[in-house]
Amino acid sequence: MSEVNALESRLLSVPNLDSKGDKEEYLNAVFRGEVDFPLANGGMGIDFSGSTFAAEMMNNNAIGSASLSAHGYELLRPGLKIDGKELHEYSAKERIALLEVYNRSSVERIIKEVREKCEYGVFGANIMHIVHHFGSTLEDVIKSGEIDILNIGAGMPNKGFLKRLNEEDAQHIRYEPIVSSVFAARMIMRTALKNDGRIPDAFYVELPTIAGGHLGWLKDDHEHPERFDPNTIYNDMRDMIDGMLEQYGIKKKHIPIIFAGGYAFQDQIESAPGEGVAMATPLLLSQESGMPNETITEQYLNPDIGVITDQMSPTGFWSRRLDTPHTERTDESIKHNVSRCVGCVLENCKYLLGASDVEKDANYCIGHDLSRARFGLPNGTLFVNANIKELRDSGIYERDGELYVPEIKEILHALFRMNAPA
Ligand SMILES: Cc1cc2nc3c(=O)[nH]c(=O)nc-3n(C[C@H](O)[C@H](O)[C@H](O)COP(=O)(O)O)c2cc1C
Repeated sequence: MSEVNALESRLLSVPNLDSKGDKEEYLNAVFRGEVDFPLANGGMGIDFSGSTFAAEMMNNNAIGSASLSAHGYELLRPGLKIDGKELHEYSAKERIALLEVYNRSSVERIIKEVREKCEYGVFGANIMHIVHHFGSTLEDVIKSGEIDILNIGAGMPNKGFLKRLNEEDAQHIRYEPIVSSVFAARMIMRTALKNDGRIPDAFYVELPTIAGGHLGWLKDDHEHPERFDPNTIYNDMRDMIDGMLEQYGIKKKHIPIIFAGGYAFQDQIESAPGEGVAMATPLLLSQESGMPNETITEQYLNPDIGVITDQMSPTGFWSRRLDTPHTERTDESIKHNVSRCVGCVLENCKYLLGASDVEKDANYCIGHDLSRARFGLPNGTLFVNANIKELRDSGIYERDGELYVPEIKEILHALFRMNAPA
């Protein structure tokens, strides 16, 4: 591979650290703005950014972030027997409890696997607020003592959560909420400042106009792309943060702002405002994402498959995904899914709420369809950002005229040296 260029040395800049103490010192410098903020991957659930993925990012001197939302999804593997019984033979209450057990053991496994591969690398966790087992996953993350950065998206953090992060045993964690507007960032700042809660250590701004997965659009935002101009968001957010810190008499706290949503190629990254960038979709199409190679080559890299942005996710959020079929909505498929429901988003689930009427509701079962994508089964939900065409056209995912699934290392190396295809 060719020599390290300037972008690479800025973004793959986590030093090879030898102790937790050295890491703490380094992270203090990063969050105070004294050294470059390294590249991070955006969390990708379920388990696409898992232990192999996160450790590989960390071993490339970036921040590795594992998705920890409903990561006990193995429970949904078709035909799985748990103590001799299939999932649908358990009661609804037992299934919800089983997901919690599976989630908890997978947090332990993921952390252990990552730390075996990269003891002192910078390790992030991504949890969606909307998932039913948010609270128990949060406790496991805090108590592990091994997670350095916590990204929380899909829902507003409440004061209980912000106070929890202010407790003694959570001080080693840097809290970086995922927001898409200055309004949301202000609400988090205000809730923290008024309630003796944790002020964010950084903000992760996800641009819903381009990002993959669930999107932070509210009301009619989807009709107003101009509201998501990154430079305007950056300037307004910086003013808001500085103003609130001053108002509450907080001196010297620097809060970096990280941008995600279509920052892949050299020119895109160089144009990003803020102190750092994160990326997800380009790295999803890698050997380390756990996505079967066929799903990547036949679906993600297929120029005939478009991108759809709609409100079919049962969470109620808008989301962006490949325009591929979901499990067909029939009486039989609804019965199948409901009898295996593990309550991933429980009371927030529009699929469950509409389950009594096959005609009425267009939502899909996210627990079922997202885990199908992870298992490489047909009719899975394939989240993607709006810029997939650029990635398809870039040549990064081709070798000798054939489609090819690179390693994360190769993807980063190529992206840092190439402008977005016209
Ligand atoms: C397959 C996939 C899964 C995702 N899952 C999550 C998730 O579980 N939690 C989350 O906060 N964001 C999730 N996202 C959003 C990404 O982390 C990222 O912020 C967003 O896609 C913008 O980056 P990109 O344009 O480089 O993809 C997901 C995105 C993709 C493509």
